[in-house]
Amino acid sequence: MLLDELVKIKEDLLKEIQSASSQKELNDVRIKALGKSGLITSASKGMRDVSPEDRPKLGALINEVRTAIEQALQVKGEKFEQEALNKRLEEEKIDITEPSKFGKVGALHPIPDVIDRLTDICVDMGFSVVEGPEIETDYYNFEAMNIPKNHPSRDMQDTFFITDEILLRSQTSAVQAREMEKRKPPFKIVCPGKTYRNDSDATHSPIFHQLEGLVVDENISMADLKSMLTILMKRLYGEDTMIRFRPSFFPFTEPSIEVDVSCPNCHGKGCNICKGSGMLELLGAGVVNPKVLEMSGIDSKKYRGFAFGFGLDRTAMILNSISNIKSLYKNDIRFLNQMK
Ligand code: DAH
Repeated sequence: MLLDELVKIKEDLLKEIQSASSQKELNDVRIKALGKSGLITSASKGMRDVSPEDRPKLGALINEVRTAIEQALQVKGEKFEQEALNKRLEEEKIDITEPSKFGKVGALHPIPDVIDRLTDICVDMGFSVVEGPEIETDYYNFEAMNIPKNHPSRDMQDTFFITDEILLRSQTSAVQAREMEKRKPPFKIVCPGKTYRNDSDATHSPIFHQLEGLVVDENISMADLKSMLTILMKRLYGEDTMIRFRPSFFPFTEPSIEVDVSCPNCHGKGCNICKGSGMLELLGAGVVNPKVLEMSGIDSKKYRGFAFGFGLDRTAMILNSISNIKSLYKNDIRFLNQMK
C-alpha cells in the first residue's frame, strides 16, 4: 500500500516540478518534498510501522524517489538560473557602437598649471622641490637675505605684518636661508609658493606667486646661471625664444641680473602684450652674495651659489594672454572655462 502511495507521490511531485514557473514555486515543491515534515521525510519516518521483511524494499524505493526528486529539482533550478542570467545579459547589453556622452572636462587653474610646468622642467634638471611657510619671520624674509631693518629695498616689498617680527612673506627668497641652514652643499632646490605685498593694480595683486631657485656648489659662476636659465626659458616658451640679461641690483646677489624673454605673442616685433617693446621682463637672478651664504652657515670661501626668482602670475598671464592679474583670483567660471 505504502509502496503504491510513494510511486504516486513521486509522479505528482515530478509533475509539480515540471510545471513550476519560478524559483519560488520550485522552492515550495522542495519544502513540500524534502522539508522537515515533507512527504519523503514523512515516508522515511513511516518505516517504523512497516514489517521488517518489507523494510528493505521500502527503503530502496524511498531512496530512489528522493534521488529522482533531487535530480529533477536541480535540473529545473539550473534552468531557472540560466534563464535569469540570459535575461540580465540581455538587459545589461552595452551597445558599443553608440556615440559616447562626454562629461564636462575641467582644467588646471593657470597658476598651478605654470607651477607644474616649471617644476617639471627644474626636476628634469636635478632640482628638488621644497616648500616654506607663508607666515614668515622678519629674519628669514629680510635679515638673512641681507636686507637689514631700514634698508631702502624694504620699501619695494612692503607686506602685511602680524607683529613687528612676523609677517606674510614678501618673497619666496625667504626659503633660501631656511634651506641653507638645513642642507649641506652641493644642492639644487626650487620653491614655488604664495607671496604677499601691499600692492594692487592691473598687474599687481596683494597675493601673488613666485618660484625661487637656489644652487650651491663649488665653482659656481654667472655662466652656469645664464646657461641654466636659457635652457629653462626655451623649454617653457619655445626653442626660438630670445633671452636678454640686464644688470640689476638685489641685496642678496652680487652681481645681480634681470632676465627678459622675447614676447611669445609677437616674437620680438612688438604688440600690446609686450607694450610694443618685443621683450618681457620675467625674473631676477644673480650670484648669491657671500654674506648671505655666511649668515646661513655656509663657507663662502669654499662654496658659491646662484639664485633666481620668477613671478609666476606674470608668467601665467603671458602664457594665457591674460591682461588683468585680478582675473586669476576672481574664480569667475567663464574665465576659468577658457583655460581648457
Ligand atoms: N626676491 C626677488 C623679488 O621678489 C626676486 C629675486 C631676485 C630672487 C634675485 C632671487 C634672486 O633669488 O637671485 O623681487
